[in-house]
Amino acid sequence: MTMIKRIRELEAMSRRLEPGREARGPVRDAVMGYAERFLDRLPELKAYEADKEAAKELRKSPIGEQGTVVSELLALFDEAVVVPGVNPAAGRFLAYIPGGGIYFASLGDYLAAVTNRYAGVRFAGPGAVEMEDICLDWMAELVGYPEGSGGNLASGGSIANLVGIVTARDAHGLEARDFERAVVYLSEQAHHCIHKALGVAGLGECFQHYIGMDERYRMIPVELERAIAEDRAKGLIPWLVIASAGTTDVGAIDPLAEIGRVAKAEGLWYHIDAAYGGFFALVDESRPKLAGMELSDSIVLDPHKGLFLPYGTGAVLVKDVRALHRSHYYQAAYMQDIVAEESLAASSPADLSPELTKHFRGLRLWLPLKLHGVEPFRACLEEKLLLTRYFYEEVQELGFEVGPEPELSVATYRWVPEGRDANEFNRALVEEIHRDGRVFVSSTMLDGKFVLRLAALTFRTHLDTIDLLLEILKEKVDRLNG
Ligand SMILES: Cc1ncc(COP(=O)(O)O)c(C=O)c1O
Repeated sequence: MTMIKRIRELEAMSRRLEPGREARGPVRDAVMGYAERFLDRLPELKAYEADKEAAKELRKSPIGEQGTVVSELLALFDEAVVVPGVNPAAGRFLAYIPGGGIYFASLGDYLAAVTNRYAGVRFAGPGAVEMEDICLDWMAELVGYPEGSGGNLASGGSIANLVGIVTARDAHGLEARDFERAVVYLSEQAHHCIHKALGVAGLGECFQHYIGMDERYRMIPVELERAIAEDRAKGLIPWLVIASAGTTDVGAIDPLAEIGRVAKAEGLWYHIDAAYGGFFALVDESRPKLAGMELSDSIVLDPHKGLFLPYGTGAVLVKDVRALHRSHYYQAAYMQDIVAEESLAASSPADLSPELTKHFRGLRLWLPLKLHGVEPFRACLEEKLLLTRYFYEEVQELGFEVGPEPELSVATYRWVPEGRDANEFNRALVEEIHRDGRVFVSSTMLDGKFVLRLAALTFRTHLDTIDLLLEILKEKVDRLNG
């Protein structure tokens, strides 16, 4: 067989990867049809399916040499992927920190995938990079950062925090020999991805100094000031303060402005994890609570939380883009044509993050913001604040004990039974709610107490959802009380 003959044969087979309009149509219609039916069924779908056996069906359909018809694959997807476990698209998903996944973002992903624009390097995808920059600039304006800031769209809050921490490490000139004496200040409410990021950044040996919190789980700035002075006196190297703008457990906002002033006076890098709370700055009522975000040197906001995007988009912003660039800019000979075109002012996402090639995340953010405008996002966030306050009042009417008054859209609560262990009772209550599956809630431990959490951030969560949760709570407590 000549080489040309073999090439032609291979071409015929490989062309199957490029189905023509006629072949694309039925597959696309089947997929779109499934998505439409999913959205129609969503109000009736459980928020949690505890029986996860169906996921194993996937193993019975191994990947082979020949293709499978789309109808079979969609049936398998529904049975094994969509049904078991939690349903984060449902408005009745009230656990962890939700978001929901707005529809137009999915169309952004579709276009990003079909056109496959390269969003890593400006030379290659100038429009894609510009679009991401526009989204980042919009966020920087929301935070109150000046000209000269920069950022990056990451896959989520964990990676965004990692980028911020690595930038802080390098900006402070920390070297391996300093790590044992270097001190990070944070509270026990800091998200565990911060500890992970410190570890991944090689900073696991740094001393993590936990600062006391007030009765609403907010860091106490005078204690921070005192801790820094004590550590300096011991010959340690204070270098980083990490505050939270909306903690995961209770939605607490640390006193951002006061902490910022301490950090500045002491010459420390100031990082804020606003992955959950940051976008509440869009709401007039909560904006003052977030004052001080602009004092940070780096900050994380998660569009897949506060802007209701499907999973896969976090953002890190750094006040001085040069610091971000210093930590992430590398050259390679094979990219020399690109390097020639670049300058710091027009740097590329690849120069500002650990990623080179990456998903074009800007489109899934830009498209819904442009199609809807900001107004419904702002309204949806304010609605969640009010729903949480409504829940906080109503759940007390039912006889529940509550945690701190919610600052954002997380509220904690528990039932205190007579003559029984409260932690065991509330654990059983969560299990009952999970078995039921109409709503999905999660729990946490606060000062040794097992408490349930309401986290209202799915854009599909409305008043009827909260009323349903209250009804279910009453029903389950009555049942457990026999
Ligand atoms: C306050 C906070 N920071 C960081 C994260 C981590 O974000 P991600 O899950 O997007 O990596 C979360 C996740 O819930 C969070 O609530």
